[in-house]
Amino acid sequence: MNHKIQSLSGYINEYQESVDQPEKFWNGIAESFHWQKPWDNVLSWESEGPNVKWFENGKLNLTENIFERYLFTHANKTAILWEPNDPNEEGRKISYLELYEMTCQFSNAMTSQGVMKGDRVVIYMPMIPEAAVAMLACARIGAVHSVVFAGFSSSALADRINDCEAKMVLTSDGNFRGSKNIPVKALVDEALEKTTCVEKVIVCKRTKIKVTMVEGRDVWWHDVIKNEAIEHKATVLDSEDLLFILYTSGSTGKPKGVVHSTGGYMVYTYYSFLNVFQYKQNDVFWCTADIGWITGHSYIIYGPLLAGGTTVMFEGIPTFPHPGRFWEIIDKYKVNQFYTAPTAIRALQAKGLEPLEPYKLDSLKVIGSVGEPINEEAWHWYHDNIGKGNCPLVDTWWQTETGGIMISPLAGITPNKPAHASLPLPGIQPIIVDAEGNELKGNNVEGNLCIKFPWPSMIRTTYGDHKRFKETYFTTYPGMYFTGDGVKRDHDGYLRILGRVDDVMNVSGHRMGTAEVENAINEHPNVIESAVVGFPHEIKGQGIYAYVICDLKGLSGEALIDEIKNTVRKIIGPIAKPDVVQIVSGLPKTRSGKIMRRILRKVASKDISNLGDTSTLLNPEVVDQIIKGAKN
Ligand code: WT7
Repeated sequence: MNHKIQSLSGYINEYQESVDQPEKFWNGIAESFHWQKPWDNVLSWESEGPNVKWFENGKLNLTENIFERYLFTHANKTAILWEPNDPNEEGRKISYLELYEMTCQFSNAMTSQGVMKGDRVVIYMPMIPEAAVAMLACARIGAVHSVVFAGFSSSALADRINDCEAKMVLTSDGNFRGSKNIPVKALVDEALEKTTCVEKVIVCKRTKIKVTMVEGRDVWWHDVIKNEAIEHKATVLDSEDLLFILYTSGSTGKPKGVVHSTGGYMVYTYYSFLNVFQYKQNDVFWCTADIGWITGHSYIIYGPLLAGGTTVMFEGIPTFPHPGRFWEIIDKYKVNQFYTAPTAIRALQAKGLEPLEPYKLDSLKVIGSVGEPINEEAWHWYHDNIGKGNCPLVDTWWQTETGGIMISPLAGITPNKPAHASLPLPGIQPIIVDAEGNELKGNNVEGNLCIKFPWPSMIRTTYGDHKRFKETYFTTYPGMYFTGDGVKRDHDGYLRILGRVDDVMNVSGHRMGTAEVENAINEHPNVIESAVVGFPHEIKGQGIYAYVICDLKGLSGEALIDEIKNTVRKIIGPIAKPDVVQIVSGLPKTRSGKIMRRILRKVASKDISNLGDTSTLLNPEVVDQIIKGAKN
């Protein structure tokens, strides 16, 4: 099975083939997997629905393509290298055979606990190998996993459980993150007070903090696996059966459940992993994301394991117990490909070069970036000091909805250009359009990024709301997938992503809707109205700036601001906490009552020299007041 592109001309040819004959192209890649029954059609696509099916009527189980396919040759090869939060604790090295047995045993346990094909299972767990087992066991039995980042609050967890009507929650007692021991199970208990669909909770012991176990509902992981067999016959699934749901923020208030299905996601994560990172057998790959995000799904778990690779899973954070922690792990496991986010790079860059001194980093062959535009300064720092000037840097653009990397250099093949995601992967057809949807052809153009042809790992729907799916992605530019990002094609034809053009912020590589934060702020009883915008932030990329109209009700402004920040933390989680809250007497509104966010963004960005036309404002006087009270 070799689908690895070897050279730039190889890429150019393969790209051309993939555009000329997409079905033939993907057919060739899908054929190398193990299917129980081949597909009738490679692709069926109706842009009206939109409805997309890849490998239609093909039958398979994704985990057979991780386990059974490799067991004869790779049984003792390391699948997961697990590094704990605390470097003094022993790590774990899990072979393909061991991971297979753990997955089978847990598949049997979930089945015994009543989970059936198609049931939704929410995973709210720390970065421990059991979390990987949980995902793989769901895939094995055909249950649909929905991983919720363990940093989300109990109320965010409850919303997600309710939206997908999960039957089961998989969790742990606590979560070691840096110096904290987060009471994960207690948060689940709180969430379950607001839900009625969950029948069982399986709790994995990790930190040994005391937890309350609800009789009949809560069971221990180690108890439920005790008498289960370590073999399991994989459930045969349809290519379009759901593999997982992952919630992400959009421009409206409620996070949406992005749905991915089995066959196409499998083919694409494997193919993109192999090619972008130029992964070779026996390389050690490390993606520092959390499995609560798509990056963790596709490039900690599915991509590397489908390629029979060795993947590092790290429980902790980059700065604990010291700011050289990432570099220590790279040396310890002789990591060959290292994949992280610009926000982490900037945070570590701010610590200076001293934390790097004890480490060689000479195992590295490829370094990668994901999640937000990488500024040139961070790009060069990363390239020079971590990659030592001789590792290709892959700046990978993609989204929760795309399932896999869409635009990126191929390591060592595509010439590197700082801060440019560069060129589309084979099979991906990006186009740049203006506000009216006209294609902007040629070089030196800037506009909105759309994808004009389906690809195997694309979002299938938003869970439970196909209308929303169509409206969000296929209505702005009918018939095309609209990404929400702005993009520039430079004089060489290389793409540079400019960031979101909608009301979505990108805070430390985490996607956050302005409306979602506003809704949380408005929950505070003293708040009358609020407007949230992003602003440039040195480490986070973007920070969150909230303008709030409120009734102090005897509180001091500072006290209320603290309460508002805590309200957001409680309702969504620490990642959504505003950096700045400014109390204002009014918000700039047009005569039709629409908040003029452009002005708020400029004030938050300290860019007030040219506020543009404010003549259509209903209340132009508030603009001056807002500028005077600005807190940046
Ligand atoms: C948004 C998607 C899937 C990766 C994790 C984030 C931004 C992502 C890049 C990049 C510039 C990037 C975009 C995109 N983004 N990667 N290399 N350069 N921007 O997934 O939470 O779904 O967010 O992240 O704005 O739309 P996500």
